[in-house]
Amino acid sequence: MSTTGATRVAGVIGDPVRHSLSPVIHNAAFAEAGLDWTFVAFEVLDGDAPGAVAGARALGIDGLSVTMPHKATVLEALDRLSPTATKLGAVNAIAREGTEFVGHSTDGAGLIDALAFDEGFAPEGKTCAVIGAGGAARAVILALADAGANSVIVINRTPANAEIAALLAGRVGVVGTEDLVRDADLIVNATPAGMIGNDTPAIDPTLFHSNQLVVDLVYAPPLTSTIQAARAAGAHAVGGLGMLVHQAAHAFTLWTGQEAPLPAMSAAAMAALAHGRR
Ligand code: ATR
Repeated sequence: MSTTGATRVAGVIGDPVRHSLSPVIHNAAFAEAGLDWTFVAFEVLDGDAPGAVAGARALGIDGLSVTMPHKATVLEALDRLSPTATKLGAVNAIAREGTEFVGHSTDGAGLIDALAFDEGFAPEGKTCAVIGAGGAARAVILALADAGANSVIVINRTPANAEIAALLAGRVGVVGTEDLVRDADLIVNATPAGMIGNDTPAIDPTLFHSNQLVVDLVYAPPLTSTIQAARAAGAHAVGGLGMLVHQAAHAFTLWTGQEAPLPAMSAAAMAALAHGRR
């Protein structure tokens, strides 16, 4: 569909943002759904998120994704927050509702959907371990607790940050040391360990075993050292592309009111990664 005067615009604000997969994923979704929408990446410097949101309002932009370093600082520019975004103090998607710009956090729901749709895994009653205590980890910790996990063990390089993050899981939140990974049904790596240029596994590989599902939120490279170590130990291990696609699907639905065309979004993301974009 070519761009016309009627084309509606959505985009992502971030820095760095030029390698973002979001334009690929969302434009594939708009095309598949036959919607006259387009999605672009806006390079917005640290501190400029409120100005970018004001600009988006003035320009009539209908949806924004929000990535580093704006997930917290963008809050002040919004009219309202979803309950999840309020609890996390962070936003990764902004939807226009009438004249209001409403902040949402779809990362946690994205993980829960990726677990359910792609792996057939429900956190209810399960022991879950989350490595990391940053923004991504916090969204995951809250979502796993809300999905009924029996316990959510938070393991982090800096224990003080783990203490704060574990509060999000309420009574099922536990701060732990790495050896507790042995007891977990689900392990989520929410640290940048294993990213391109950072090749140390997130945790001691001897702690993995079969009967475990390991999700590394890192998706570039697709096969991280953590995934390789977990698979070598017999665990089922996957990367972060599923969560990325499913959080985008939630944003798509918030913006358009339609169900997201997941297979087209997934295929576009995988093709882009295979061609070296990320
Ligand atoms: P994001 O928003 O993507 O989650 P973040 O907020 O910067 O990123 O959080 C990064 C998380 O990964 C933190 O938990 C950080 O640990 P600290 O609390 O000690 O800073 C963790 N982290 C970053 N680099 C790491 C590394 N090389 N090994 C282990 N943990 C790391």
